[in-house]
Amino acid sequence: MKYILAIESSCDDTSAAVMQEDFICLSNVTASQKVHEIYGGVVPELASRAHQQNILPVVEVALKEAGVKKEELSAIAFTRGPGLLGSLLVGVSFAKSMAQGLNIPIIDVNHLDAHVLAHFVKDNKEQEVPEFPYLCLLVSGGNTQIIKVESDSQMSILGKTIDDAAGETIDKAAKILSLPYPGGPHIDRLAKQGKVTLQFAKSHIKDYDYSFSGLKTSILYTLRDLLKENPDYIKENINDIACSVQEAVVNTLLFKFEKALKDTGIKTIALAGGVSANSLLRERFNLLGEKYGCRVFIPKFSYTTDNAAMVAVCAMFKYLRKDFADISLTAYAR
Ligand code: KG4
Repeated sequence: MKYILAIESSCDDTSAAVMQEDFICLSNVTASQKVHEIYGGVVPELASRAHQQNILPVVEVALKEAGVKKEELSAIAFTRGPGLLGSLLVGVSFAKSMAQGLNIPIIDVNHLDAHVLAHFVKDNKEQEVPEFPYLCLLVSGGNTQIIKVESDSQMSILGKTIDDAAGETIDKAAKILSLPYPGGPHIDRLAKQGKVTLQFAKSHIKDYDYSFSGLKTSILYTLRDLLKENPDYIKENINDIACSVQEAVVNTLLFKFEKALKDTGIKTIALAGGVSANSLLRERFNLLGEKYGCRVFIPKFSYTTDNAAMVAVCAMFKYLRKDFADISLTAYAR
């Protein structure tokens, strides 16, 4: 049996996973960095330092949980980009030196491809995986894209945001509401007790592209005006505001995705990225799949945020076709 160790360090999570050649994930260990919370966003320099502290213990625990010795590894994979350069460099350097020490190949992985292919992470042999082609809605803190996935190595972006990402918009709204960073999970939680009471500006962008900057500004101005009338507006209506923001973001996301789905006639759809943890988006995505008679793939919560298991999937596809990276290769931010 072949085993791959994968490392993900593109932003503020240090993660390592061990995967078997049949795509069964034997371990997926992540150390999240709490250090950024007080700053209301990720501080790149602090992130790379925390990765340096976390990487060795995270890799050790991943190997131990998998019951695999480092000498049994066939390759080491790492996220090459996009992401924070300092953070990526920690993972890339670690993977290279460990692979050199063990005299095994390295495999570079694109972070966005990893999110899109996260549906191939298997926890057991029976688990179903998507067939190609499938249409993927990738929604994270930094990206919003509609991707036609033809194969593990052939993907085309049908639409993407021309400004802010969906996650960024939710986080910004959460910040206005004085919720902790990242705000997504808090908006989701509060929205469950609220109802839609506010309407925000809708964007009119061509084709399958998105724009969230107008929505962000609309949320800001709407609340500013309401606070002028009632300084306690946010305190008294926080659940309804959260619910209205969530509704606006999810509607925007699915409006374009549905258009792409109708036009392409693809019958398998998948959700990916950190925002795919959102309960309303998951529910509506399932309904959309039902409406068009599609097979729907929604990742387990542990595979929605940054994790090394999804990096291992991309790496395993590459390993099986002997697509290795050169030792001189380095990280890229964009
Ligand atoms: O993919 P991801 O882990 O990393 C980045 O791209 O940075 O996505 C993080 C994003 C954040 O914006 C976070 O607020 C959002 O995912 N998020 C959520 C939920 N959980 C995480 N947004 C809405 N509802 C959630 N339950």
